[in-house]
Amino acid sequence: MKHGEKAAGRAKQLGVAVTNDNRKAVKGADIILLSVKPQAVTELLKEIAPEIGAKTLVVSVAASVPTSYLEQQLAAASGGEGNKVAVVRAMPNTPAAVGCGMTGICRGAHAGPADVEIARTMFDAVGRTVVVDEKNMDAVTGLSASGPAFAYIILESLAEAGVKVGLPRDVATLLAAQTMKGAASVVLETGEHPALLKDAVTTPAGCTIDGILELEDGKLRVTLIKAVVKATSRAGELLFEK
Ligand SMILES: NC(=O)c1ccc[n+]([C@@H]2O[C@H](COP(=O)([O-])OP(=O)(O)OC[C@H]3O[C@@H](n4cnc5c(N)ncnc54)[C@H](OP(=O)(O)O)[C@@H]3O)[C@@H](O)[C@H]2O)c1
Repeated sequence: MKHGEKAAGRAKQLGVAVTNDNRKAVKGADIILLSVKPQAVTELLKEIAPEIGAKTLVVSVAASVPTSYLEQQLAAASGGEGNKVAVVRAMPNTPAAVGCGMTGICRGAHAGPADVEIARTMFDAVGRTVVVDEKNMDAVTGLSASGPAFAYIILESLAEAGVKVGLPRDVATLLAAQTMKGAASVVLETGEHPALLKDAVTTPAGCTIDGILELEDGKLRVTLIKAVVKATSRAGELLFEK
């Protein structure tokens, strides 16, 4: 961590060793998990590079920072291009805090399958993990890392709708959240196409089709697609912004 007083508080709260001395933190470590903001990565790598050994695995969750950049910075800071550090890049999301995260990972040029498995095991502990090509990492950022914010807006809107049709807010929020969780669980557990599952709920001349017509009229689909496309392209711009 950067701030000493925060580090002390976190150490007490979690019962683990925490320090704001980065070189001390990584000295002798088999795995280093980098989780500073993208803009802080370059300085941090310069600081810790001398402590990184031949067998150290560096896992970075910094959005938009390519493995090639991490590798080059580490090699340069530790005295030469010959230093080939194993780097895995990961993009988790905030539901990891309750064990329901979604993480995309990709490997750098010097990381092997065993390194990917180590990273996968780390992120599987807090949800699900998918291995992708690095060219798709901005898309993972735009979909599953930004996605919880989009989902919260949909959830909040459904809850608001429940209030509009007469439900107490706490009941409406529970109905909305459990319904979204249930629908997502069915997709994950059955592997069925969402469109077929939607069709199964939609009785001819019933109430669901009237609701779907409103969604289509309001362009929900195209709006969500555009949100992910924008977030994905923004993910490609973050590294050197202050
Ligand atoms: N938020 C998300 O949903 C999400 C998802 C996927 C990936 N990420 C990535 O995760 C990273 C962290 O994001 P965040 O939202 O958690 O940021 P954050 O809340 O600002 O946390 C950054 C942490 O880095 C520490 N730090 C800053 N500069 C440091 C330095 N020079 N040396 C050591 N520690 C330093 C800070 O310590 P102090 O607390 O002492 O200041 C803080 O604990 C970013 O790269 C982001 O792209 C975020």
